[in-house]
Amino acid sequence: MPTIVFVQQDGTRHPVSAVAGLSLMEAAAINKVPGIEGDCGGFCACGTCHVYLDDESSTASLPAMHELERATLDFAYDVGPDSRLACQIPLTDAMDGMIIRLPARQY
Ligand code: FES
Repeated sequence: MPTIVFVQQDGTRHPVSAVAGLSLMEAAAINKVPGIEGDCGGFCACGTCHVYLDDESSTASLPAMHELERATLDFAYDVGPDSRLACQIPLTDAMDGMIIRLPARQY
C-alpha cells in the first residue's frame, strides 16, 4: 500500500496510504485531504483535482497525459508545466513516498 504525501501551499503535509489501483484523487478524497474537490467524480470533466507533481518525485512511471486530460486542465486554476489531474493517475506501489503539491485553490 503506497503512501503519498499531499502538500498544501502553506507547507502542511498530508500523508495518505491507499490501495494501489485507486486514483490519486480517490486516495485524497477518501482521506479527506483538503484542496482536492473532484467534482466530476473522476471522469476528467471538471479540473478540480488539479495537482502539481513534485520535481523530486519519480514521475517516469506515471501514465502520459492524454488529450482529454490536457483539455480539461484548461479549466483548472494556475496550471503549470508540472500540472496533472489527480483522477487520471492510478496509484501504484512504485509511487510510495511521492510528493504531490496542491494548488492554492481549485476554482
Ligand atoms: S475529478 Fe474531475 S477532472 Fe478529476
